[in-house]
Amino acid sequence: MEAITELEKEHRGIEVMLRIIEAVSTRPAHGQEINSEDFNAILEFLSVFVDRCHHGKEEDFLFPALESAGVQRDQGPIGVLLQEHEQGRQLVAELRNGIKNLLSGDKSAAQKIEKAGRDYVALLTSHIDKEENVLFPMAASLLGPDKHEELFEAFEQLEKERIGPGKHEAFHELLHRLEQTYVS
Ligand SMILES: [Fe+2]
Ligand SMILES: [Fe+2]
Repeated sequence: MEAITELEKEHRGIEVMLRIIEAVSTRPAHGQEINSEDFNAILEFLSVFVDRCHHGKEEDFLFPALESAGVQRDQGPIGVLLQEHEQGRQLVAELRNGIKNLLSGDKSAAQKIEKAGRDYVALLTSHIDKEENVLFPMAASLLGPDKHEELFEAFEQLEKERIGPGKHEAFHELLHRLEQTYVS
């Protein structure tokens, strides 16, 4: 079960980031300063920690293991979750574009940043809820201890290859710093 515990811990970190995004993405529309370094750090967290690392563990290892154990992909929970990962990628791209445009002087981008931020927070909140209340309980009942151990090792390997040593800790420090700065 260590593999599932690891995904749940990552969800707790992602939820901290969602609160940060909720606060930060409304700032430009309210005429508040935008710190480009912080925005870039948020975008890096979303594409590396959330997508490449966390969604990678789910898509490359957990979902296929559940599919082999009989959980449906098309017209089933896995298909829905995969579609939501894709929607998340599109919203991060919108956020990235909005920030780029705002920094190059396009004031109308503020509304787009606010909307993309709000949509992303809503999407990920309900996505995490589905995984923890539907999919992870399925993993607990359908996959045996050997499979859980195999997943845990695969997760460790993926992390080493895709984000590199020390980066995970750096992301947690970033969460802490941004939370202190923007979420009261
Ligand atoms: Fe997911
Ligand atoms: Fe997840």
